[in-house]
Parts: sequence; C-alpha cells; structure tokens
Amino acid sequence: MSVFYFLVVSALAFITLAITIPSTPTWPDGRCTDKSLTIPSWVIWDYKVASGTATFRVDNRAHPYDGWVEITCSRSESQCHGSAASDELKVNWREGDNGQRVISFNEFWVCGDEGDHTIFTATGNTTVTSCTGSDCASPITYLAPGSLVLPVPLTPVQPTPPPGINAPTCADIRKNEWTVAGVEYRNYTKGQCKQWYGEDQICLDPPVTTGTDFVTKGEHLKLNVTNNAISHEVLCSFTPTYYDISIPNPLRCTGGNFNEITLDVRWSGTAPDFSLKVEELWYCLENPATNANPTVIVASGSTPVPLTCQSYPGITGQADDIVTRCTDPASSHAVDGIQLDKQTLPPYSLVTAYPVHGGCTFDSVVNPTFYYRGMYFHTKPFPANDPDSATLSSFTAGLTGPGFADFFFYENKAISGSGVSTVYTCAVYYDGKPASQHYNCTYSFNPHTKVITQDKVWECRDKNPSQPLYFDGSGSFDWNADPIQSCTNPGNSTIIDFGCYWHGDHANGQPGVPYDIPKVTASLINVLPPNYGQPGVSDTVRVNGKWQKMSGGT
Ligand SMILES: *[C@@H]1O[C@H](CO)[C@@H](O)[C@H](O)[C@H]1NC(C)=O
Ligand SMILES: *[C@@H]1O[C@H](CO)[C@@H](O)[C@H](O)[C@H]1NC(C)=O
Ligand SMILES: *[C@@H]1O[C@H](CO)[C@@H](O)[C@H](O)[C@H]1NC(C)=O
Ligand SMILES: *[C@@H]1O[C@H](CO)[C@@H](O)[C@H](O)[C@H]1NC(C)=O
Ligand SMILES: *[C@@H]1O[C@H](CO)[C@@H](O)[C@H](O)[C@H]1NC(C)=O
Repeated sequence: MSVFYFLVVSALAFITLAITIPSTPTWPDGRCTDKSLTIPSWVIWDYKVASGTATFRVDNRAHPYDGWVEITCSRSESQCHGSAASDELKVNWREGDNGQRVISFNEFWVCGDEGDHTIFTATGNTTVTSCTGSDCASPITYLAPGSLVLPVPLTPVQPTPPPGINAPTCADIRKNEWTVAGVEYRNYTKGQCKQWYGEDQICLDPPVTTGTDFVTKGEHLKLNVTNNAISHEVLCSFTPTYYDISIPNPLRCTGGNFNEITLDVRWSGTAPDFSLKVEELWYCLENPATNANPTVIVASGSTPVPLTCQSYPGITGQADDIVTRCTDPASSHAVDGIQLDKQTLPPYSLVTAYPVHGGCTFDSVVNPTFYYRGMYFHTKPFPANDPDSATLSSFTAGLTGPGFADFFFYENKAISGSGVSTVYTCAVYYDGKPASQHYNCTYSFNPHTKVITQDKVWECRDKNPSQPLYFDGSGSFDWNADPIQSCTNPGNSTIIDFGCYWHGDHANGQPGVPYDIPKVTASLINVLPPNYGQPGVSDTVRVNGKWQKMSGGT
C-alpha cells in the first residue's frame, strides 16, 4: 500500500513537473465596442457551391447580436444576397488570382454597450482554400479579418502563431524529435576577480567597465535545442548571478505564455557525466485542408550528455579556486520524443487578439474626455477700459486625456491673434523626447470668462503599434465649471492685472476636472507642429561693441 502510494505520488510529481498548457484567452459575451475595435472579423461556415451558386453562413464576431446570416451568391452577379436582417452586410464573391474564390465583406453595425452608441463600418475578405471543382462543399470554416473604416481607420493587429505551426511534420512526435548541439558547461568555485568591492558583486580589476562583467561563481551552461518537427532552434543558456549560482531545474529557455513555443530543460549529473531532459510545448495546425482547430502539444525526451572536462586553478590563486570547463566531444545528440499532453484549441485562437477592455483607442472613440488640473493664470497689466486687450503673463494647466496624463503646459509662445484671442503654442520640443514624438497643441485663454479654447493631438498605438492613430481634440472648456478658485485683482482704476488659481480636490488631484471633448478627428498622419523654440530665451546681438538682446525677442 505505501509502496503503491509512493509510486502514485511520484508519478503525479512527474506529471505536475511538465510544462502546463496556458489557458486560451477567450472573449467574454457582450463587449461589442471592445471587440469591434480589436477583432472586427467574420466567420464563414457551411460553404457549398452547386450549379454556379454558392451558399454559406456568416457571423460577425464583433456584433452585438447572436446569430448568423445565410448568404447566396451566383456567378452572374458580383453582389450576393442575404437572408433577412442582412441589409447592413454587403457580400461579394469573385474569383481570385489563383482561381480560388474570394469572399469580401462590407458591414455597418452599431454598438451601444458603453453608453455611447458607436457606429462601426468595416471591410474584410478571405480566400476559400478548401473547395475545388465546380460543385463542392468546404470541410472547413474561414475567418475574414476586418479593417475598420469608421469610427477610425484601423486594422487592429492580430497575433502571429509561433513558427512551425504549418509544418507538415508538426505533430509527429518521433525518434530524433530534438537535436541538441553546442553544449558547453563550466563550473567556477569562485568569482573570477582579484579585487572585489563586495565579494561576488562588483569587480574592480582593470580595465573596470561596469564592475559586473566578471565571470561569476557557479555553473554556466549553454546549449542549442532544435525541434526537428518544426525546424525550430532555441539557444538555451544559464549564467549564474550573486543570488542564483546553480542551474534551476527546470531551466526555462523560452516562452511561457499562450501562443509561444515554450522550452524547459533539466540538467543533471556531475562532471563529466551529465544528462539532459528536454520538454517543449508547441502549436500545430494539422491537416489545414480539413481542419481549422489548432492543437497544442507538450512532449519530452532525455539523453545522456557525457562531456570532456578539465579542471584548473582560477585567476585568484587561492587553493579552492577551481575552474571546471567541459566541452562536448559529440557534435550533437538526438533526443527521442514522448508526447505528454495534447489539446485541441478553438478555431482561430492563435490569430485572434486577446480580450482587452478600454485603452487609448477605446477612450478616444467612446466619450473622449479632457481633464484639467492645477489651473492657474495671471494677466499682464492692461488698460481697464480695454479688457479685450488682456494677455497672459503666466499660465499653468495639467491636461490628461485618452492615452496621455499630466501634460503640463505653461504660458508659451504666442503664435497668432492678439489680446484675449492670442493663440499660444503648448507643444514644446525641449522636453528631451525624439522630434517625432510631438503633437500639435495650441490654446487661447480668456481671463474674463475663464474659458480655454484648446486643440491637442494625441497618439494611440494600442491596436496597431506599427500604424498609430492620431486623434485631434478641440473645443472650448469653461473653467468656471469648477467654482473653487481664488483670484487677486491688483492694479488701479486705469491699469489692471489679475489672476486666479483653482484649488479644490478635483483641480488638485489626478486626473482633474472632466470635460467632454466637443470635436475629435482621427488620422493616420501626425503633422508635427512648428518648433517655436524655448520661451524666455531670445537671440542676442553685438552692436557697436556691445552685446544686447535682439529687438523682437521675448
Ligand atoms: C483583402 O484583405 C487584405 C487584408 O487582409 C487586403 O490587403 C486586400 O486588399 C483585400 N482585398 C480585397 C479585394 O478587398
Ligand atoms: C546555437 O544557436 C545560435 C543562435 O541561434 C547560433 O548562433 C549558434 O551557431 C548555434 N550553435 C550551434 C552549435 O548550433
Ligand atoms: C563545481 O565544482 C566544485 C569543485 O570541483 C564541486 O565541488 C561542485 O560540486 C561543482 N558543482 C556542480 C554543480 O557540479
Ligand atoms: C496705475 O498703475 C500704473 C502701473 O502700475 C501706473 O503707471 C499708473 O500711473 C497708475 N494710475 C493711477 C491713476 O494711479
Ligand atoms: C495645430 O492646431 C491649430 C489649431 O487647430 C491649427 O491652426 C494648426 O494648423 C495646427 N498645426 C498643425 C501643424 O497641424
């Protein structure tokens, strides 16, 4: 009994040591707006062609409604016909370049799940790869990824499955599953340094560069593992640190997340007789002509790795400073594979962006909001009988909006207008950021009405990092909406200047006092604002042997 129990426990221990298959990210029900901004796409199934007529079913994956539309297409017309309730879906069926049929979509839908009702329009297409001959029925379903036209021009990026997924041998767990090559093992009983600043932490041996680039104490391992089923090589290495001198078991060489090849190795034994266990998780799409479900496989295998080792004294000259250096007399080792686990995943799970809620693009599309905080202004002296001539001598506000927070701006260059209509720039290039990471920003401020008229561009790259969207928000924002303000009015009956600052919790805390942004536009292009230079720094000129400020400078 106890022997049996022991065996069961050790078998379980062996199983739990295997790489665990990460769970598949799954979109929850609802979330029309998030889905529409992230995975606009159509799924097609039951595709058949008979006597020149194609029929199939379509479901918009982002749509708020459950259900599908039945589509009928004939060779004589390019536009297909849909069943009831498909007015907003236009489908096109035509021959593609290689004779395969291409189905294209253009659809308009509305999401109301976020309070706002947002109109979406998207296009997309897919090629029918698995239906040959004039009459046929496709054994598989298809995914047509979409590009949004409205509310923003956006092709959200979808994940790319890991390499090897389409290899015909991908799911063959076989002899010689892995090739292990380039094995190097070293073991240092002491850190290789003669002058320490903190033993095993900072080395002061010349030439001192970082102080941390010495050879550390402990075991060093390097090897390459090639999975022959998917022709995929991983370089696996371990370098000990002050905190971690032994090779962890298992050693994670790569991966760990969903949709990533994950490789663990276990290195055991003592010099020169080592052995290696390889364990790997990878993804396959088997028989793509008849199957749309990817699989995830976990397999393992082991091999003895006898090395040739030499020991010699290390550089410190101490008796217990021994270096053991081992190399592999064999150029490679074949490792046979055993399957540990295999699971079938939902169709398209490796090419569907993972669930998210909100984010920069979402916040820019749904109820776009500016928040002001830390507001303060003071005017220059102006004639009491000409209030419209008032301009600013100092100004501060912190602006938070979709995708940016606490963009503080100060009275800057006046770029157009005069008096209370003076337009100032709030785009500065002297903030240390690359020139391309600047966005148009202007404002004017009427100190009498306390209304700021602002225009500000911001960038969102959360849905497609390589094609960012540039949003431009503009409008007038009445700072009197927050009544908690203190003002001073120095001056006399002819020349006055005054200023106010806001100090309630809203005006002091992040994000600040909220305002709907009256107008927002979206573009794929960022038109950089001009560089107006630094405020308060003006050109100087030497005239008649005297240095002086140039006239016209600030
Ligand atoms: C089909 O979609 C791809 C992107 O997925 C796009 O590049 C191509 O222009 C589309 N073709 C048609 C005919 O719409
Ligand atoms: C190991 O892999 C690395 C990176 O892929 C490669 O540069 C190196 O040549 C490989 N070494 C051997 C022995 O295969
Ligand atoms: C490293 O080498 C030392 C001395 O040869 C030995 O005592 C120690 O066990 C070795 N460490 C490992 C992990 O083999
Ligand atoms: C009002 O103040 C201005 C500037 O401080 C000063 O030049 C002017 O003489 C003052 N006028 C009166 C009537 O005090
Ligand atoms: C910046 O915004 C202002 C105000 O809307 C506009 O007049 C100006 O043309 C814009 N500049 C650029 C470079 O887009």
